[in-house]
Amino acid sequence: MPPSSATRARTTVFAPRLAALIGAHTGQDVFRLEPDTVGVAGHEVADRILAARRATETERPTFKPLHGRSITRTEASTVTRTLGNDVREALSGPLPEDADLAGSWPLTGHLFLRDLILGQDPYRLRMLMSRNLELTPKLTWSVIAIGAALPGWPRPSSRLTGLAGRAARATGYQERRYAMGMYRRAAAPVCFTVSTLVANALWLGAPFDDATPNRGIILESLRLLPPSWNILRNASPEYPAVDDRIGERDDVLVLPLLSHRDPALWDDPDTFRPERWDDLDPETTPGYLPFGHSSERCWGRHMVMPLAELLLDLVRGSGLVVDPRQRTGKVPLLGLLGVADVRLTHPR
Ligand code: HEM
Repeated sequence: MPPSSATRARTTVFAPRLAALIGAHTGQDVFRLEPDTVGVAGHEVADRILAARRATETERPTFKPLHGRSITRTEASTVTRTLGNDVREALSGPLPEDADLAGSWPLTGHLFLRDLILGQDPYRLRMLMSRNLELTPKLTWSVIAIGAALPGWPRPSSRLTGLAGRAARATGYQERRYAMGMYRRAAAPVCFTVSTLVANALWLGAPFDDATPNRGIILESLRLLPPSWNILRNASPEYPAVDDRIGERDDVLVLPLLSHRDPALWDDPDTFRPERWDDLDPETTPGYLPFGHSSERCWGRHMVMPLAELLLDLVRGSGLVVDPRQRTGKVPLLGLLGVADVRLTHPR
């Protein structure tokens, strides 16, 4: 399917440092970024780096230590399962028919998902999904500290999500603080990242042909604008053995943003072509790492994909369009890669 005139009229503007990274290093395998940091975009080297050892607890994206307290793999796994059940539960009920998804994305999608999945949870927990908290971890922690100290801590009840139920069982200030931190850690990637992912897809490809499946659209959006655009591994003795351009003290930044555009791996790499996924398996496609490496791939991907497809389905069914007056979409330099403000409107 050739790109429509609507998508051709749009320009994606990357923050200068991202644009420079793409411009200077696309197609290269190993290159120096800083005196102590090496970038890796070649798929074979990336594969060997990520397979060389497990991510440490501080390198892991979701379950890093919470205010200095380690999160065990058992707890991470229980929390992921609990959230997965909450998501399934939310999707099994009737979907809100009157939701107006017009407005600025990803914010609009974020609020929709927050209300859909966490809608019944107490305000003090739901407010942890505020996008403003993204700005500084210190602010997040202050909000958490206040929330844990306020009287009237929620009581366990069948109305709460499983995630809030875990928090409700916490006793004492320290445990409550930790429980609130965990609530945010687990639920944020669902609300923030899934809405970002869908906003990116709409920006890159809407309007979509009716015959194009959501799966291909989401996978292609994850290729061109991977929310987790870099994967950090701190210096480690295994890495110089993988490639002698990596020194003993070099941190390594594996860059899906670049391997996803490598002309040696992709036909027409800069073009949004969801149909390329008709015959490709995203789990085995070389250099395709939106959820990390096969040795320790993201545990959340099985809940993220159906949610993203559902949200995209709702937008496709709503008749909303990307505002034809919007010609540029800015991609800021943030941990989560995405177009900052995609405006969806009712067609005139
Ligand atoms: C669109 C949303 C998401 C994206 C793009 C994403 C992306 C990633 C990536 C790239 C990694 C590999 C990181 C590395 O190797 O350092 C990863 C790992 C991980 N993700 Fe996600 N993630 C998403 C949502 C979630 C959610 C909702 C959860 C669960 C609450 C989750 C839990 C994890 C865990 C536990 C790991 C570590 C796996 C391990 O250590 O073996 N992710 N994710």
